[in-house]
Amino acid sequence: MEMRAPRGTQDILPGTSEKWQYVEKQLTDICRRYNYKEIRTPIFEHTELFQRGVGDSTDIVQKEMYTFEDRGGRSITLRPEGTASTVRSFVQNKLFGLPNQPTKLFYIGPMFRYERPQQGRLRQFVQFGIEALGSDDPSVDAEVMALAMNAYEELGLRSLKLVLNSLGDKQSREDHKKALVQHFSPHKEELCADCQVRLDQNPLRVLDCKKDKDHPAMATAPSILDYLNETSQKYYEKVKAHLDAMGIAYEIDPNLVRGLDYYNHTAFEIMSEAEGFGAITTLSGGGRYNGLVEDIGGPETSGIGFAMSIERLLMALEAEGIELPIEESLDCYIVALGEQAEKEAVRLSYLLRQAGVQVDKDYLQRKMKGQFKAADRLNAKYVVVLGEREIEQDAVSIKDMKSGEQIELPLDQIINFLHEKLAGGNE
Ligand code: HAM
Repeated sequence: MEMRAPRGTQDILPGTSEKWQYVEKQLTDICRRYNYKEIRTPIFEHTELFQRGVGDSTDIVQKEMYTFEDRGGRSITLRPEGTASTVRSFVQNKLFGLPNQPTKLFYIGPMFRYERPQQGRLRQFVQFGIEALGSDDPSVDAEVMALAMNAYEELGLRSLKLVLNSLGDKQSREDHKKALVQHFSPHKEELCADCQVRLDQNPLRVLDCKKDKDHPAMATAPSILDYLNETSQKYYEKVKAHLDAMGIAYEIDPNLVRGLDYYNHTAFEIMSEAEGFGAITTLSGGGRYNGLVEDIGGPETSGIGFAMSIERLLMALEAEGIELPIEESLDCYIVALGEQAEKEAVRLSYLLRQAGVQVDKDYLQRKMKGQFKAADRLNAKYVVVLGEREIEQDAVSIKDMKSGEQIELPLDQIINFLHEKLAGGNE
């Protein structure tokens, strides 16, 4: 049997992993500027956390979780998203008791969902997400969306659309739910099997159905925006006013409901409008989840956040033809000829690496020409040549590959020389 990675997973190989490193560094830097601190939580949790946190009626909990019993007979689930785990950790570690509130956190890590793989949809994917816990000020909602847009734009994306909705508070949602049930009930038999269940359990999710999206009752469904009570309406207006003040454009979509149960008030998604991006156009999504911390056993705390997958971000960069500024080069390649020179090359590469210089050498006993070719392939800036003559004279030849200029130096000066030459470019 040929061993292959499981369906819906991917290997990230050199050549691509540099892009991941670059993007992760940029995202981390954005978080620094917005003052979000990193949290790392376990990749698996008790299944109950997601049942309670993400919601029993969601597709994620019903169909998509990687759940197994461990050897101790506990039900364990590979995390399908980062919010429930972050909130669990916030409660468990009593972060709500720290003096600096709100608690602003970010994470980057793998998530697992048993979905049908297609372009932009994997079974293991990496989410970058942020969560702000402990403030229900509308400026936090605006900040979360600003950070998300800022991240995409700084990486070069232009064809972006921020789609916004308000799901209102509990009372608004209850009123809207009643209206939805009344509206869809006469059509119940015409809806898909999932929606028939949703109509009883969580009617809001009917609006999100891919199968029934063209049913005539969809177009005339009651809009949540008509059911927002005064508090929810005021909240929504303030969030929009902050976005307006920052000059962040958005589109309102009263049918945007999101696939997770914990949302209220602000819900948003960022879509790619790039041609050739693929069938799934959502780059990221998030929203407010006041009440989730209590559901997970903590004190009354409001929260909001969002998450994006790095895979979809990279797809969007490719669709927009954006090259990340990744330089693939090597500071120095050591060409060594003869046994003595080879010994010296091992010692010298050790010393240079300790001094901060990026060094590679030949390991395949190639001839001089082959070693120079390897240096070229690795895009070496300098080639240090150690031959018999150089060894005899305690010297090295060093070639600047860009200018072609070659000089000889006493062996003990090479570290200082390279260090100085490279300092500008390597800082
Ligand atoms: P979500 O909409 O389920 O929300 O996922 C957020 C993002 O994760 C999506 O927009 C997409 O970029 C990425 N994603 C989801 N599933 C896949 C997949 N199978 N393959 C590739 N990428 C995927 C959440 O997970 C919420 N926890 C977001 C949030 C944080 N809300 C508040 N705080």
